[in-house]
Amino acid sequence: MRKIIIAAVSVNGFLSHSETEGANWTSKADKRFFKEATCGGTGVVIVGRKTYETIPNGLPGRRMIVLTRHPERFQDGPEVEFRSEGAQTLLPELEANGVKECWIAGGRQVYTYFLREGLVDEIFLTIEPILFGNGIPFLSELAEDRPLSLVSHRLLNDQTVLLHYRTHRTGG
Ligand SMILES: NC(=O)c1ccc[n+]([C@@H]2O[C@H](COP(=O)([O-])OP(=O)(O)OC[C@H]3O[C@@H](n4cnc5c(N)ncnc54)[C@H](OP(=O)(O)O)[C@@H]3O)[C@@H](O)[C@H]2O)c1
Repeated sequence: MRKIIIAAVSVNGFLSHSETEGANWTSKADKRFFKEATCGGTGVVIVGRKTYETIPNGLPGRRMIVLTRHPERFQDGPEVEFRSEGAQTLLPELEANGVKECWIAGGRQVYTYFLREGLVDEIFLTIEPILFGNGIPFLSELAEDRPLSLVSHRLLNDQTVLLHYRTHRTGG
């Protein structure tokens, strides 16, 4: 199972202006890329509870898992589940159920958590042509440097760049 971070950032590395802001600032081309990448029968999209709350209509056609320490406060639906288990429990369960792609779709807390656990294989990073005055950074501190390999780069429109990286396993 591929574990893939998918994120869009400003040139100075922000995900949004505040934790309640959704993806209203990203390009149509990035939204199209996100939809094309994450739609498909064998994947799931994992988000944090705060990101979930910025997506009032959910992600139609996709299975979404929302990480929260309080799943009892929410009700699962046909396409959404609220889970509190750590990734070390959740990911093997998804793999055993035939999931082939696990899209780690933010926000900052969730991206940072999966990277710190060493559970990310690939990163798709869209860079939008804007500098934010302030906001939520892509990542919090990681314990160590993490070299990446560039797999590909392309323009999503005449202004927006998509970078695809592979991570390198550290330790075990
Ligand atoms: N530009 C982009 O590509 C992009 C992508 C995604 C999100 N965003 C933006 O990012 C912002 C939100 O990011 P954020 O970092 O504030 O919040 P977040 O990561 O979306 O959600 C944080 C919440 O997720 C739960 N959580 C996180 N790690 C967990 C773990 N290991 N186990 C169980 N639950 C866990 C906790 O929920 P509880 O408090 O319920 O326990 C925590 O409060 C929003 O503005 C959103 O629009 C941008």
